[in-house]
Amino acid sequence: MTLNSSLPKQLPSDLDVQRLPKHVAVIMDGNGRWAKQRGLPRIVGHRRGVDTLKSLLRCCKDWGVQALTAYAFSTENWGRPLDEVEFLMMLFERVLRRELQEMIDEGVQIHFVGDLEALPLTLQTEIQRAMTATKDNHTIKFIVATNYGGRREIIQACRNIASKVQHNQINLDDIDESLFERHLYTAGIIDPDLLIRTSGEMRVSNFLLWQMAYAELYVTKTLWPDFDRDEFHQALKDFQDRHRRFGKVN
Ligand code: IPE
Ligand code: IPE
Ligand code: MG
Repeated sequence: MTLNSSLPKQLPSDLDVQRLPKHVAVIMDGNGRWAKQRGLPRIVGHRRGVDTLKSLLRCCKDWGVQALTAYAFSTENWGRPLDEVEFLMMLFERVLRRELQEMIDEGVQIHFVGDLEALPLTLQTEIQRAMTATKDNHTIKFIVATNYGGRREIIQACRNIASKVQHNQINLDDIDESLFERHLYTAGIIDPDLLIRTSGEMRVSNFLLWQMAYAELYVTKTLWPDFDRDEFHQALKDFQDRHRRFGKVN
């Protein structure tokens, strides 16, 4: 994969830089259907999905979005056929190894969120290497949710907080939203303001349950491998036309 530097880098003129989402999250769905429509094995769809993600990251960076979170593998995805799961783990590892230098050069700060200890050890090594190598980068935050489940994240936060109470490190009264957030995988990362799901499914599938409280939702029927700059442009335009009230009145 090479960077497509011929694409326009400026924000399209009908988008307002002041009203861009700061953090976009994507549920990259539809790889399997994309492949099936072409009579190809599902893994071909996953491979194409990586290209889409790379283009989207590039686009976010060009247009000034500060953070992009991508749902790569859910805690429920272990229930897929073993060969597909193994392929995905191998794909994550290979892509990370292949793309790391470019991410360093481009100023991308990469994070992984999820129950990472359950991942293959060789993948964990690549993840640690990538996070360490990019930790001082500032151009864009790129967060990959791998073996991620919103419920598991919340339970893990509860356990850590309960343990601190038990050991008298904090009091019950110290537990508030801000303390809770600091115990999530996403500690220190602002909540997404726009969530995009491809392939038409109207559900969140255990993604960022806490963080999504006030995200604007955008669902497109386009399958993930076909989600391009024009589609993203459309999603941003839609976002800019929304009136976010946060429970208040005008
Ligand atoms: C999303 O595409 C990728 C992952 C969940 C890893 P799917 O594999 O879910 O594709 P569909 O939904 O079967 O088409
Ligand atoms: C959500 O997609 C998980 C990822 C994109 C990694 P799924 O395809 O697993 O979700 P469901 O099964 O349609 O809810
Ligand atoms: Mg799916």
